Amino acid sequence: MRRNTFGAGSVRQSDPESRPDNVLAEEADDALVADFREKLLDEIDLTELSKLDLTQRRARLERVMTHLVASKGPLLSSRERTALIRRVVAEALGLGVLEPLLADDAITEIMVNGPDQIFVERNGQVQLANVRFVNNEQLLQTIDRIVSQVNRRVDESSPMVDARLPERGERVNVILPPLSLDGPVVTIRKFPRAFTLEELIGNGTLDADTARLLGACVRAKLNILVSGGTGSGKTTLLNSLSAFIPDRERIVTIEDAAELSLQQNHVIRLESRPPNVEGKGQVTIRDLVRNSLRMRPDRIVVGEVRGGETMDMLSAMNTGHEGSLTTIHANSPIEALSRAETLASMSDLELPFAAVQEQVNNAIDIIVQLDRGPTGSRRVSEAVYVASKGREPYRLQPISVFELDDSVGPNGELHGRHRIRALPLALARRLRHTGEEFVVNPEAAPEESA
Ligand SMILES: Nc1ncnc2c1ncn2[C@@H]1O[C@H](COP(=O)(O)OP(=O)(O)OP(=O)(O)O)[C@@H](O)[C@H]1O
Ligand SMILES: [Mg+2]
Repeated sequence: MRRNTFGAGSVRQSDPESRPDNVLAEEADDALVADFREKLLDEIDLTELSKLDLTQRRARLERVMTHLVASKGPLLSSRERTALIRRVVAEALGLGVLEPLLADDAITEIMVNGPDQIFVERNGQVQLANVRFVNNEQLLQTIDRIVSQVNRRVDESSPMVDARLPERGERVNVILPPLSLDGPVVTIRKFPRAFTLEELIGNGTLDADTARLLGACVRAKLNILVSGGTGSGKTTLLNSLSAFIPDRERIVTIEDAAELSLQQNHVIRLESRPPNVEGKGQVTIRDLVRNSLRMRPDRIVVGEVRGGETMDMLSAMNTGHEGSLTTIHANSPIEALSRAETLASMSDLELPFAAVQEQVNNAIDIIVQLDRGPTGSRRVSEAVYVASKGREPYRLQPISVFELDDSVGPNGELHGRHRIRALPLALARRLRHTGEEFVVNPEAAPEESA
């Protein structure tokens, strides 16, 4: 059996000279690609090739292909030639036919339902991709290549595997027959793109004043909860806010599926692990939060709290790990607090209700609420300061609010503008050393309670 892929890893960059950006590898003709794949395999020395690094390997394959196409190929336009060379080389390197899809930044998800049905999500829309594997065997080889890179195995006895592509960290899930009835299924979730705060200001997610205020809160080591519904942009905002963490701090990030990409030098990334097929080896977010406390962190960033780890996170926030950031699934700041309470009571520490509430009150300083509009736009609808302490009922003071005006857009989107409020004295005091100036309201009245 001949392998049609060589060496590990994959290349995503395109060389602008031989591969103009508007030429899609997908455009190459299937029969020609198959033909030239054979020709290329006959021409090259695999042992020699395996000694080269990825860039050299690609360069070598491109050279051989250019030569082959010139001497043995049909008459092709330069566009056709580029598409053909690009696709044969892409298939020979890394993940074969999936390479052009991985390289396409507009694609966020790749779904392989079998050798000849590959769907992609492009700009939020799911569509059939114009590529396919030659046969089941080629698909299985690609799967083999993905999982062997992470020292995992996938076969009939262990037919489900989660892996991560080495270069950019795309999440891959593989499930094989007999569990999937119609053939191997591969789902690849691309690493979400990081937005800078400037970009979020530019697209109206928040305004410059709110960004400056939240930035001061991060720098002053307040504990911040980013709250919102599914896909409302919580992780994205958390990631942008993390840019305010000073570079000298040691940051530990903890996630189920690593999505954060912090820019600082001193970042330790931890990722939980599901149990293996025998039900063993599970490492939960909670285990990682506890472990992180022994790693001398200046900040702990947890991608999302959704279970008993919430209690550990709250205790960490209350015991010297200020400045922690996390996200939570809730539709309003007050709901975020009660959800934190519920999640914290899921821990095995059987604390009385009032004690849990006290932990929440003392731990959380700021809640940033995100909403997703009818057109898919994301917006900070409000940011609040948790003014209550100890066993007091929750008291929230808005510090930034999206104020609606009366107009409504053509797609039902509500218009308005962000406006920061005069800050409660207690908050203003904590922000003083950041050097940022804010209007202070010494008598800020409690606006919401529960
Ligand atoms: N402010 C924003 N403006 C434009 N697009 C955004 C914004 N925030 C997030 N997105 C896009 O929306 C998608 C979901 O974002 P993200 O993962 O941050 O949301 P989430 O609330 O954390 O989702 P989940 O509920 O799955 O945890 C991503 O594709 C992301 O690029
Ligand atoms: Mg998220």
